[in-house]
Amino acid sequence: MGPGMQLRDPVEKKARRHPIITLDGPAGSGKSTTAREVARRLGFRHLDSGALYRALTFALLSAGIPEGEWPGLSAEILDRFSIRLRPVEGRFQVLLGDRVLEEELRSPEVTAGVSPLSALPAVRAWLLEAQRRAGEEGGLVADGRDMGTVVFPHAEVKVFLIADLRERARRRFLERENRNPSPEELVVEAGRIQERDARDSGRQLAPLKKADGALEVDTSDLSFEAQVSIIVNFVRNLDWGRHLP
Ligand code: CDP
Repeated sequence: MGPGMQLRDPVEKKARRHPIITLDGPAGSGKSTTAREVARRLGFRHLDSGALYRALTFALLSAGIPEGEWPGLSAEILDRFSIRLRPVEGRFQVLLGDRVLEEELRSPEVTAGVSPLSALPAVRAWLLEAQRRAGEEGGLVADGRDMGTVVFPHAEVKVFLIADLRERARRRFLERENRNPSPEELVVEAGRIQERDARDSGRQLAPLKKADGALEVDTSDLSFEAQVSIIVNFVRNLDWGRHLP
């Protein structure tokens, strides 16, 4: 059994009262910030699926389980880490036991370990149902790598965000260091992102790729407001989107 869940039909439910919107894309394309704001404007809840993968990485590192042993992790071992999602205003918190995880999820150690961990089939299977349960009621904006392809293949709206590598590296550096990178720093940051992208797109299971029929938005030259508006306007122009509050 996966984190914080009961046994249920693992297949994504088709009959939902409210729609699901998925946002997938590579690191630094602006998925999480965009998803959060799109959800806020539409009155939906935001699920940052990457936070679940990061939480498990954090838990394993904190427990001192070395990366070399991760391929041997079974569902039974993973169950010992009490990781769960808790719905709060507009989003889900990720808990490890009673501890709410926030900044610790974005440490360099977690960022370096999360991609190899998320390529493991046992890990993906273990986290799948928690994500689907988060979508059971609908009214969800979910961001990640495989939201539109694997987790919510019946989502009403699928978005694929892209941006060129330099811009993604600049944003990530700025976000972390609160300043723009020097040309040398930009090269280092871009290298890290490129390596993670290659792993995420190259893995066998649930690789990062654009879902069929997804709306592709290149955010390289878009302001935050513009990229949010493109998605919100797209949704509001759909039959059901017109009736949203
Ligand atoms: O925010 P950023 O795009 O850097 O990453 P994230 O969304 O926090 O995801 C961190 C890592 O978790 C990714 O690089 C993937 O390896 C993995 N991940 C995944 O495999 N599938 C998802 N649905 C979400 C994240």
